Amino acid sequence: MRNILVTNALPYANGPIHMGHLLGYIQADIWVRAMRAMGHDVTYVCADDAHGTAIMLRAEANGISPEEQIANVQKEHIRDFDGFSVYFDHYDSTHSAENKARSEEIYIKNREAGNIAVRPVTQLFDPEKGMFLSDRFIKGTCPKCKAEDQYGDACEVCGTTYNATELLAPRSTLSGATPIEKSSDHYFFKLPNFAEYLQKWTRDEGRLPVSIANKLDEWFENGLNDWDISRDAPYFGFEIPDAPNKYFYVWVDAPIGYMSSFENYIKAKRPELSFDDFWKKDSDKEVYHFIGKDIVYFHALFWPAMLEGSNYRTPTGLFVNGFLTVNGQKMSKSRGTFIKAETYLEHLNPEYLRYYF
Ligand code: MSP
Ligand code: ZN
Repeated sequence: MRNILVTNALPYANGPIHMGHLLGYIQADIWVRAMRAMGHDVTYVCADDAHGTAIMLRAEANGISPEEQIANVQKEHIRDFDGFSVYFDHYDSTHSAENKARSEEIYIKNREAGNIAVRPVTQLFDPEKGMFLSDRFIKGTCPKCKAEDQYGDACEVCGTTYNATELLAPRSTLSGATPIEKSSDHYFFKLPNFAEYLQKWTRDEGRLPVSIANKLDEWFENGLNDWDISRDAPYFGFEIPDAPNKYFYVWVDAPIGYMSSFENYIKAKRPELSFDDFWKKDSDKEVYHFIGKDIVYFHALFWPAMLEGSNYRTPTGLFVNGFLTVNGQKMSKSRGTFIKAETYLEHLNPEYLRYYF
């Protein structure tokens, strides 16, 4: 009998589950059922990914606290997964005391191992909102082709990528104010420390689909960069130890949510299981993450590096799904091209979709 922990990507708590999301959840659920039918002991956990600027602003727009916002959405997510017979053993939230403690521990171990750097970064700042603006919250005129109304990272008209500070006539999409340049200290995870380790890791037998490992080679060839893991207040997340008013970027504590959800499951329902047996280095238990291809970078580079740097085991393997598309484009919440799980269930039998996927 094999002992297996299976996770699905943690859906963001700022919107509903749509049919695109369901692809990965249904495939994982089917795999879990198959492993159980073969007599293996499988634990299947998930959680809501509760942190980040988008969730903070969504709560603000709804006139509620972020805590209320994530509690409401979690109920809907669980209801939708249930509607498609995706049965997790445990469904948690990354906004938990256990996840906070584990995130701090993994960060501090990495800091002690020399994997954290601090240096100032200059960014655009909204003087009216009193916050730094990520690329999504800045619009302006493309410095190359002069197209108006372009986001802070790339021009959708001519395809040029640039820094937000290069935009002409920039404005904050939050307040309309003209952003100013401002510097603050940022914390970085030194990913290049793990370049050799990761190059080998991604080619280990069974770790990744070969096509994904090939894609990763492009990233290795371009060279790995330090990863900015901090965000300035105001931010909905966990404060970084010994760094007042600095918060972990949501992608730091999100995958750690796999561990804390499992930990809370053991506490609540399976006290005979041992967290350490699964997560200690050289564990003989198996851990698999089911994810979509857009989040491979986080799961095949940052995540194993963070674990290796804090002396934990890394995942046995990743299962990576492609995109459910609409007219050839990824079904997407931000583009508004989605059909909610809830809407599907009003009209059709969920088994049709399970079978199709
Ligand atoms: N919160 C992150 C994951 C953190 S995991 C530590 C996230 N959330 S998400 O809500 O945007 O996406 C959840 C899952 O759905 C991801 O695996 C993502 O790849 C997948 N998909 C989102 N849209 C999809 C399609 N159109 N088709 C298939 N999968 C899609 O990413
Ligand atoms: Zn342009």
